[in-house]
Amino acid sequence: MSKRIEVEDLNVYYSKFLAVEDVSLAIEPRSVTAFIGPSGCGKSTFLRTLNRMHETIPGARVEGKVLLNDEDLYAPGVDPVLVRREVGMVFQRPNPFPTMSIRDNVLAGVKLNNKRISKTDADDLVEKSLRGANLWNEVKDRLEKPGAGLSGGQQQRLCIARAIAVSPEVLLMDEPCSALDPISTLAIEDLIAELKQDYTIVIVTHNMQQASRVSDKTAFFNIAGTGKPGKLIEYNDTATIFGAPTVQATEDYVSGRFG
Ligand SMILES: Nc1ncnc2c1ncn2[C@@H]1O[C@H](COP(=O)(O)OP(=O)(O)OP(=O)(O)O)[C@@H](O)[C@H]1O
Ligand SMILES: [Mg+2]
Repeated sequence: MSKRIEVEDLNVYYSKFLAVEDVSLAIEPRSVTAFIGPSGCGKSTFLRTLNRMHETIPGARVEGKVLLNDEDLYAPGVDPVLVRREVGMVFQRPNPFPTMSIRDNVLAGVKLNNKRISKTDADDLVEKSLRGANLWNEVKDRLEKPGAGLSGGQQQRLCIARAIAVSPEVLLMDEPCSALDPISTLAIEDLIAELKQDYTIVIVTHNMQQASRVSDKTAFFNIAGTGKPGKLIEYNDTATIFGAPTVQATEDYVSGRFG
């Protein structure tokens, strides 16, 4: 598990609009990388190119390469469905299937992949995934109850359990804590720290403390103005980005003078 991501000269479009321009960066396995930057600079757009979710929007396309352990996700013949199995995603708002049981929520991705598994294997996978998401103890006695009956923080951990149940190599998280209270946020951050032992993790966050707490590397994106493309301005060790950035715009952003 856990693969290296390498992006080469990536341009990301919504039809004719160039939303993100010329990004190159490498993300190491078993690490956490934070994407930061002002609203509209293309963090979510860029994140979605890493598992080919971007192209599910009509007119959306990319130029350039995204390599997962040296294999180009955009090479002809690559099945985007398989890509999304390898590169899982957790969204801003917890989105469990509300009427589906907790157990079935965990298994939803696996069933979508048309995998047939025995009841015992399914039980094991549910437990393993919920343990991996630090949720097992809270839900083990109500696995057949609907996912909607959990708190927001629990629902987000359920979504993480669902994402890891399909054994991805990479986990993408787009502001996974923005709808959560501080306690649930810390629970997710602790979980991210544990998950990075097994996965490559990329997290978009507006929370500077969160970026500095959870990430090894930080990428700062910015835009020059409305209608202009977002660009990767600076990418480095998180300590450097927050402590001694090279670019003035990074310094302004991380110190709260801008954005
Ligand atoms: N489905 C879409 N169709 C057309 N343009 C889009 C679409 N989604 C995003 N955009 C545009 O792409 C640019 C980047 O948006 P994106 O959502 O990636 O920014 P972001 O950095 O994630 O912002 P935020 O911090 O507010 O989430 C914006 O100009 C946005 O309006
Ligand atoms: Mg976004």
